[in-house]
Amino acid sequence: MAVEIEGVTLHLAHPDELLARWVGQEEPMRQLLAAWLMVDPLDLPMNPRLVGKPGVGKTTLAYAAAKRLGRDVYIMQATVDTRPEDLLVTPVVEGEGRLRYVASPLVTAMLRGGVVILDEGNRMSEKSWASLAPLLDARRYVESIVAGIKIKAHPEFRFVATLSDDASTFDLPEYIHSRLQPQILIDFPERDEEYQILKENLPFGEERILQYVTEFLQQAHSADERYTVRDGINVARFAMKLQRELGYLDDGRALEVSILETLGEEARRYVPRIRA
Ligand SMILES: Nc1ncnc2c1ncn2[C@@H]1O[C@H](COP(=O)(O)OP(=O)(O)OP(=O)(O)O)[C@@H](O)[C@H]1O
Ligand SMILES: [Mg+2]
Repeated sequence: MAVEIEGVTLHLAHPDELLARWVGQEEPMRQLLAAWLMVDPLDLPMNPRLVGKPGVGKTTLAYAAAKRLGRDVYIMQATVDTRPEDLLVTPVVEGEGRLRYVASPLVTAMLRGGVVILDEGNRMSEKSWASLAPLLDARRYVESIVAGIKIKAHPEFRFVATLSDDASTFDLPEYIHSRLQPQILIDFPERDEEYQILKENLPFGEERILQYVTEFLQQAHSADERYTVRDGINVARFAMKLQRELGYLDDGRALEVSILETLGEEARRYVPRIRA
């Protein structure tokens, strides 16, 4: 797919297809959908940021919300090396000194009226964020210096950023933070929901194992440990593999080994007392 803007041909990206389904926790889902809503033709959609511990479901929620709206989703992964042009348009040499202009997933979403997830946005520097400032306010456009064009967002275009709260990130400047409103927090799920999330992600998982891992996660949450459902999925997955490969008859043993080898010795204190 290609489109022409101000005489420049832009080659578009493909949407992302994930197998993600959102389970439980309707509150942050509805808040995200609300932020994107237009309550009047003169209204503007907002540009929310999703925050929460690594593995708590930020990317999954953003993707599932976009799919609920029936939109194409474009995931733009931010890294420390993301340059402004990577966010917008990059030139690619196409033989005999000819350039081909390639639109980023973000610009593709802007042109096609899709949703962009700027994933782990605080891994990229302020310099890259600065190029998005006009997109994230009432102007809703970006300027590609490389291609020499101004690109306006389709009215249906929606934006969401996920921000990680670990060490290898930048503090975003105030003028960016104020454009990334509201902030939607994803917290640990309740026991029932956590079990359902494990089941959704491991539909072939044995009941006893899923129950045990739910118990482990809930104990860890009540101690405000950082372990999330992603860790739980990994623990359950490895336990099942250990059982298959090593023929452990005792689920408890497989789970204990899996917890220690997946999460380390410091997780031992949350290993459920009850044997699975
Ligand atoms: N409510 C939920 N429904 C379904 N799956 C979930 C839910 N919450 C978390 N998961 C699952 O947990 C795993 C981690 O989720 P995800 O990758 O979205 O987390 P994240 O917050 O984006 O993590 P990171 O900060 O590392 O990017 C995924 O496998 C996802 O499918
Ligand atoms: Mg993520």
